[in-house]
Amino acid sequence: MIQGNGQGGKMHKAEAVAAVVLGAGKGTRMKSDMPKVMHPIGGRPMIRVLMDSIGELAPERCVVVTAPGMQAVRDCVAPADCVTQSPALGTAHAVAQARPVLEGFGGTVLVLYGDTPLVTAETMRAMVARRRQADDPAVVVLGFCPEDPGAYGRLIGDDDGNLHRIVEYKDAGEAERAIRLCNSGVVAVDGRILFDLLDAVGNDNASGEYYLTDIVAIARERGRVCAYIEGAADEVLGINSHLEQAAAEAIYQNRLREAAMRDGVTMIAPETVFLSHDTRFGRDVVIEPHVVIGPGVRIGDKVHIKAFSHLEQAEIGEGAAIGPYGRLRPGAEIGQGAKIGNFVEVKKAVIEPGAKVSHLTYIGDARVGAGANIGAGTITCNYDGYLKSFTDIGAGAFIGSNSSLVAPVKIGEGAIVGAGSVITHDVPADALAVTRAEEKRLPRWAARFRKRRQAEKDKAGGNGQGGNGQGGNGQGGNG
Ligand code: UD1
Ligand code: MG
Repeated sequence: MIQGNGQGGKMHKAEAVAAVVLGAGKGTRMKSDMPKVMHPIGGRPMIRVLMDSIGELAPERCVVVTAPGMQAVRDCVAPADCVTQSPALGTAHAVAQARPVLEGFGGTVLVLYGDTPLVTAETMRAMVARRRQADDPAVVVLGFCPEDPGAYGRLIGDDDGNLHRIVEYKDAGEAERAIRLCNSGVVAVDGRILFDLLDAVGNDNASGEYYLTDIVAIARERGRVCAYIEGAADEVLGINSHLEQAAAEAIYQNRLREAAMRDGVTMIAPETVFLSHDTRFGRDVVIEPHVVIGPGVRIGDKVHIKAFSHLEQAEIGEGAAIGPYGRLRPGAEIGQGAKIGNFVEVKKAVIEPGAKVSHLTYIGDARVGAGANIGAGTITCNYDGYLKSFTDIGAGAFIGSNSSLVAPVKIGEGAIVGAGSVITHDVPADALAVTRAEEKRLPRWAARFRKRRQAEKDKAGGNGQGGNGQGGNGQGGNG
């Protein structure tokens, strides 16, 4: 939420926006081989979260500052331009690397940090809007009041939203450190003078770095106004460790849940449901507690996701039910009104409308035709250690419990597979296939067996060997 300061002014012209994202930091405290900004929030790299929010402003130019060797970051932010900063001499020096891309740009330049991914497009727009007001501030800074101001830079300004300068914690005196209004790092700068201001920044300070924050005082010396607006602390959380990453994930998950519920999703215990940035819901969806939804899931109208289900890269048609304990893996397409019950795993398979896969089953690389019924414990044996093969189950087929369908294999429409079968050849439509061994009956066998074993046990005289619960294996009675 933005508390505007003096936002009633008129825009003096409709300007273009450019964005510079700083991402050259190594992120030592993440203790990871991966660049810090590649660690995920909501199922994708944190810098991608920020890039998508920036994308909502449709910037005319966008440039990411990286360190040498960060190819993964460059790939992740494509099609944004990337420049390399080496060595890293401070935030002003980092922004200065964007000069080749921003040459001649006269609009508003937004500077953001790749490790501060939760800044919303709404806040960015408020920054740009403030920049465009009639007093024409050269620099607009996003301030915030954290619970613990710690080592953040402090904003020295007035209650009207005018900003005089920013003092870094290391360089601040006692009175300045007592200020609670801090620099989030997000700034909007007049692109016409950005590089002139950067050229004037020196490094005579406690860190020996070129501070971007110094451009405020420099612009003021040149007679320009600078301003701040105040943002919410949970938008400007910077991620330096896995603890902060988890805190950011919690904030982000809350946003996703709230958006889903506002869109009409029922969540019985929303705090136990985990979503991804791209989860899509239809109307009247119900999500029970303890559900994890990874990237790439689309859920149709009136779908019921029962407790403890895990879904990723899957599509669920209208009125289908999943779980409890359902598992949808990449490429699962669940048709209208289909049912995926407990301990059922579906991977790269189409379950056509009205089909039922209710218990303890693996369906992978397959089609299950409309209205088919798959009995408990059915396995599509899709992998021989080398290649995956396809199982095609026709509409209305009935697969008896505990059957193995050894792919590639085709079960015709309306066919029945007897329980416990291992099917290796195609089954014609409407046929019965059953591979069970012949059933034998041995009258009184069990009673005789028990009598004989009990006698043997009594004769052994309680030496304990008979009491280990392993019982008879019945092999003596086969004659
Ligand atoms: C900076 C601000 C401080 C603010 C804080 C908010 C300055 C001088 N200080 O301090 O006022 O309160 O952020 O989190 O700007 N980076 C580069 N190249 C560099 C240096 C930094 O790309 O040479 C990137 C980092 O990867 C990071 C961001 O810039 O994403 C901020 O750098 P960092 O060193 O964390 O600045 P702070 O000391 O936290
Ligand atoms: Mg920092």
